[in-house]
Amino acid sequence: MNLAQFLAELESLQSEAAAAFGSAADAAALEEARIEFLGAAKGRLKATQKGLGAVPKEDKPAAGKRFNEVKTAIEAAFAAGQERIASAAVETKAGPRFDPTLPGEPLRLGRLHPITQTIEELKDIMGRLGFTAADGPEIEDEYHNFEALNIPQEHPARDPLENFYLSVASGQSPVVSRQLPTDNGQRRLLLRSQTSTVQIRVMEKRQPPVRIISLGRVYRPDEADATHYPMFHQMEGLLVDRHVTMADLKSVLRMFATSYLGEDVHIRFRPSFFPFTEPSVEADMHWHDRWIEFGGAGMVDPNVLSAVGYDPEVYSAFAFGLGIERLCMRRHGITDIREFYRNDIRFLAQF
Ligand code: DAH
Repeated sequence: MNLAQFLAELESLQSEAAAAFGSAADAAALEEARIEFLGAAKGRLKATQKGLGAVPKEDKPAAGKRFNEVKTAIEAAFAAGQERIASAAVETKAGPRFDPTLPGEPLRLGRLHPITQTIEELKDIMGRLGFTAADGPEIEDEYHNFEALNIPQEHPARDPLENFYLSVASGQSPVVSRQLPTDNGQRRLLLRSQTSTVQIRVMEKRQPPVRIISLGRVYRPDEADATHYPMFHQMEGLLVDRHVTMADLKSVLRMFATSYLGEDVHIRFRPSFFPFTEPSVEADMHWHDRWIEFGGAGMVDPNVLSAVGYDPEVYSAFAFGLGIERLCMRRHGITDIREFYRNDIRFLAQF
């Protein structure tokens, strides 16, 4: 090989290497090109270097000098390629499409409605006192809502203006009626006005001892204001056994109130009247220097026990019905019951 041939070979090697390093699209392609040109064993630069031996002796200094220049140039082209690819990688990361250093968008998690949360907690507290939850229908008949609870036909609590009676034309959906629907020889239907209905439904199916609670919606055509709403929730309780007394009732309600509202809550019992209990009491709690009623209670009237086939000479029972919204309002300092049902996310998200 003469000098001219050797120099021509170096020339084309340099331009090929520069093109390969300059166009490699990523680190893997660049590495492939590095092995092809600069590989220590089989690289093309190494192979060209071997041709140096065949150049005539007097041309060797010139050939060697040029070889070293080309080698440096090829190594520089490789280094430039490395830099180009590294900075391209940083650019994609820092680019407008994805910046891993920015905080993420927080996910908005849904949560249970405060009344649902309260119901769960009340079930928990009463569960520890041995009460299990029972359910009954929200569309009730007048037997379970009134008669079986010792509330006779003429009783003012049955007035159509105090209840959501439903009139049911055959083949049609029930609609709320402001007048007493005709009974057509069947029990009239209404949206239950109290969860005491579930006492009857449970006692019809089970034999004593009974120890249940029932939590759910009740309906009354009240004008909505800060303390009234036409739909609200009650927790009913019923305990039937031998030798149940008023003292049992009071201690269960007191234990319940201190568990839910705290040791410092004051509660008191006032004599009252309900058709299905004798004696009857109303339970009040102390709130903002005032006594607030949170439910009714009493010893279940023997008539009610007889109506479901329990022997009132053998069994006695206490029952209570508490307003769930009121308890929740007292606990959280909520002053308007309508807040629960406005569905304003700013209110609901606080629970
Ligand atoms: N059902 C009554 C109401 O809604 C509350 C009540 C009072 C329930 C006394 C009871 C009870 O179980 O014994 O006003």
